[in-house]
Amino acid sequence: MALRDIRIQGDPVLEKKCKEVTEMTPRMKELVGDMLDTMYEANGVGLAAPQVGILKRVVVIDVGEGPIVMVNPVILEVSGEQTGNEGCLSLPGKAGQVTRPNYVKARAYDENMTLFEIEGTELLARAICHELDHLEGHMYTEKVEGQLIDTDSEEE
Ligand code: NI
Repeated sequence: MALRDIRIQGDPVLEKKCKEVTEMTPRMKELVGDMLDTMYEANGVGLAAPQVGILKRVVVIDVGEGPIVMVNPVILEVSGEQTGNEGCLSLPGKAGQVTRPNYVKARAYDENMTLFEIEGTELLARAICHELDHLEGHMYTEKVEGQLIDTDSEEE
C-alpha cells in the first residue's frame, strides 16, 4: 500500500462523473488500500477515488469507528437535517456550513464485492453524502451557506 497524491479543487478530475466498479481486481484492491492510507495520513474522515485521480465509484470513510469501504454506493433513504461545518481534503485549510440529512441509509459493496447496507447519523451521514457527491463530480463548496472560512489556525 502506498500514499497517493490528493487532487486539489480546480483539478478537472474532481468535476467528472465516476464509473461503476464491475470487478474487484488486484488493482482495485490496491486502490482501496492506498485510499485508506492516504485518508489516514491526511487525518481525513473520508476520501473518494476521484480525489486521487481515479474515476471509479469507490469511497472510504472513517468517522472514528473503523474503516468503511463503499464500492458502487447508493443512498436508499435520507431523513432529517443537520447544518454544520464541512471540509474536504481537496480544499485544505477551508471549511464551510453545509446542510445535509441527519440520517442516511445506503447500500454498497465492500472490498470483497459483498453487498451491505449501512445506516448513519450525524457525522457519518454527512460523510456518506459528501463522499458520494464526489462520485458525481461535486464538491461541498457548491452547497456552502455563506462564506468559506479558514481553518489553518485551528487545531482540527
Ligand atoms: Ni471531499
